[in-house]
Amino acid sequence: MKVSVVGTGYVGLVSGVCLAEKGHEVICVDNDAEKVEKINAGKSPIYEEGLDDLLTNNIGQRLTATTDLRSAVLDSDVSLLAVGTPFNGSEIDLTYVRQVAKDIGSALRDKPGYHVVIVKSTVVPGTTDTEVLPLLEEFSGKKAGVDFGVGMNPEFLREGAAIDDFMNPDRIVLGGMDERTHAVMADLYAPFAGVDVLKTNNKTAEMIKYTSNSLLATLISFSNEIGNLCSALGDIDALEVMKGVHLDKRLSPILEDGTRVTPAITTYLEAGCGFGGSCFPKDVKALISHGEAASQPMPLLNAVIDINREQPGQVLDRLSKHFPEHEGLNVAVLGLAFKPGTDDMRESPAIPIVNKLVENGAKIRAYDPIAQEEARKVFNGADITYCESVPETLADADAVLLLTRWDEFSTLPEELGKLEKEPVLIDGRRMIPRYAVSTYEGIGL
Ligand SMILES: NC(=O)c1ccc[n+]([C@@H]2O[C@H](COP(=O)([O-])OP(=O)(O)OC[C@H]3O[C@@H](n4cnc5c(N)ncnc54)[C@H](O)[C@@H]3O)[C@@H](O)[C@H]2O)c1
Repeated sequence: MKVSVVGTGYVGLVSGVCLAEKGHEVICVDNDAEKVEKINAGKSPIYEEGLDDLLTNNIGQRLTATTDLRSAVLDSDVSLLAVGTPFNGSEIDLTYVRQVAKDIGSALRDKPGYHVVIVKSTVVPGTTDTEVLPLLEEFSGKKAGVDFGVGMNPEFLREGAAIDDFMNPDRIVLGGMDERTHAVMADLYAPFAGVDVLKTNNKTAEMIKYTSNSLLATLISFSNEIGNLCSALGDIDALEVMKGVHLDKRLSPILEDGTRVTPAITTYLEAGCGFGGSCFPKDVKALISHGEAASQPMPLLNAVIDINREQPGQVLDRLSKHFPEHEGLNVAVLGLAFKPGTDDMRESPAIPIVNKLVENGAKIRAYDPIAQEEARKVFNGADITYCESVPETLADADAVLLLTRWDEFSTLPEELGKLEKEPVLIDGRRMIPRYAVSTYEGIGL
């Protein structure tokens, strides 16, 4: 099948590369010429484990990249729309989605034969049918359901595990306006045999994505609220509390042979310094505003966001407990990305923490194995010394803030033990065993 994918960010590029690997002929489209050039040179503009290898396997063969959306649409049977859908402060920003819908529509005007347009971006319920479809009709001069089909196929990949998630999905949700659209979407995903496929309408498909993300964000804020209460009450470690909760057989089932399964969902039931990334914060906020616009108050999800906004402050409070003055304080920051396995800095809890410390006059040395380059852009000239390793970051530190759960930080107790004067460790991720270092502070402790 010939597929065009518009937008080559985390979702578009991973989808394009993986669909090519599965045997489709894919044209990736982006209006950022630099990204397109990199992709055609076999270099991924983003970091994802395994992405470079798959890109080199397919580029120039079943995969090409271009800035020319029109020719990509004319030369394909299906177009996936995978551009960003940020939150603009009051609601979802559909600028990019609308622009691409208009551009695909214009191209369809000159395309003979049936075409299917699939929205892969996360969009609030109703967007595909009431925004994308009418724009496609208006700009193509053609009729949806007759000349082209419109579908919605939310993406569930997790940054840091994106290739594996796309190649081995847990579910495929196919929203579609009619049977013909569903049939083309089923062909697109035919190479993913054995995966649960949920066929539904576009609006339900859109809602499934928001509900999934909102549930996960709610579990995190719930755990953080409990963690903060454990800290306030004293003599309770939220880590132990959550261990006890995880042992509920409805969360961690006991198999017939007596062994226990510990599902990944339990990792969302752990206290930390808050969720970030390009999805949870913006998607929960967009759903709240969409609900409120429909006169449906969303008090639970509002609380999820409020708790998360305050959570990075827990790290700073623990620092202030040991060092009330931050001016001139040597602080080592380990981890800047919003989670391990990615260079994505969007809404990372490290951002408000580092910004506050810079404002307070602390001397910051920072290290992230992958996100350093992105971090430089985000902190844009702020007085931060970027280091290349954990030991280099720890030099002269009064305090160490662990903000991302990168595997290589697990050697921290040994590294700290080598120092003449051991700094305070503030573990924003509860990654290091509390008695492994001499002065330990952790969220939920
Ligand atoms: N990042 C994730 O983990 C993830 C997971 C699931 C769903 N999503 C959703 O997928 C969508 C895309 O997210 P992302 O993180 O890949 O975004 P991104 O910002 O990384 O990438 C978007 C890309 O679209 C390109 N673009 C913008 N306007 C364009 C246009 N008119 N023509 C061609 N290209 C254009 C941009 O240059 C950019 O490369 C969002 O709706 C997001 O919510 C993201």
